Amino acid sequence: MGAVLIDLTVSNPTMCGFDYDAEAVLGGLSNPASLSYDPDPRGIRSAREAVADYYASHHAVVDPDDTILTTSTSEAYSFLFRLLCDPGDEVLVAQPSYPLFDFLADLDDVRLRPFPLFEDFGWWIDFAELERSIGARTRAIVLVHPNNPTGHGTGGAERLQLEALCAERNLALIVDEVFLDYGVTGPVESFATGSHPCLKFVVSGLSKIAALPQMKVGWLACFGPEQEKREALARLEVIADTFLSMNAPAQLALPRWLGGRESIQRQIAARVRANLSILRQSGVASLPVEAGWSAVLRVPQNRGSADLAETLVREAGVVVHPGSFYGLPRPHSIVVSLIGPSADFLIGVETLKRWCEPKELT
Ligand SMILES: Cc1ncc(COP(=O)(O)O)c(C=O)c1O
Repeated sequence: MGAVLIDLTVSNPTMCGFDYDAEAVLGGLSNPASLSYDPDPRGIRSAREAVADYYASHHAVVDPDDTILTTSTSEAYSFLFRLLCDPGDEVLVAQPSYPLFDFLADLDDVRLRPFPLFEDFGWWIDFAELERSIGARTRAIVLVHPNNPTGHGTGGAERLQLEALCAERNLALIVDEVFLDYGVTGPVESFATGSHPCLKFVVSGLSKIAALPQMKVGWLACFGPEQEKREALARLEVIADTFLSMNAPAQLALPRWLGGRESIQRQIAARVRANLSILRQSGVASLPVEAGWSAVLRVPQNRGSADLAETLVREAGVVVHPGSFYGLPRPHSIVVSLIGPSADFLIGVETLKRWCEPKELT
């Protein structure tokens, strides 16, 4: 018989027992306007205006004309890689970070080159290493803000330094803000606010903002010096026009789905807080979480190994992500989701704690 496993990696919000407003979610799809096909390569204007309103709620000015809708954040990345890179060009990606980029870049024939974030009472960009990593074929820098899985945001001073570097070296900056609304210790400021000295793309979508990954709605918003921005948008429009991948019902529903985000975000925030409190009380070592849906835990050094996650499944029946999956440097780091049901989270964390305790020698 198979053993019962406790899965601490569940991060699909539709599988976590949240209470969705089914009428609002499904009602959004029955707009009679969906019966006609009148595509706009950038996305239907009312949907882009809703995206601009979302940024206005974050004190950022986004022009709907500078926004392009995509079927996911992942597709937005792919459009940007195609816009910015020829085959073999390089994009620098902060590490640790979200591992999906590797596959996306491979598919678009783009080379990813990691640059390190270092941990010292918080996470920081290693600017010396970043600058050393910029080569003749580097076209862009990618940053996840707040980051997944460390949950840290990039502070104001770092942002200024990064944008100045991009402007000086003629690089585009791609900022993934899918977790922007999930600040734990306080609100997180969007890179869409303030001034924009370099060509910059902020990507996000409904997977996290409205916890609706199945609806396949994302976007990119473009910022920067006027001429560069205009040229980028004109070329992006050609890429988007080639696929016209957004379907009409989802675009027409976007304003309603975005408008309903607060209720689901409130539930997710409460779940994250409850699970963080379980974690704190358990005494399992973890890094502080500023934002996001995940936490980095540390098992004792002498229990860390290259196959730690596999060992945990075998010996403790607990499923976690190995830190190495996200490029976390230490072999005793693991990553857990904070949005899974709290009853399971409690059992999983308690089991982990027992597994971490020193074993009696017999
Ligand atoms: C940082 C980050 N960016 C993008 C995505 C993917 O989002 P989408 O479903 O919009 O492609 C994820 C999914 O977990 C993510 O963690």
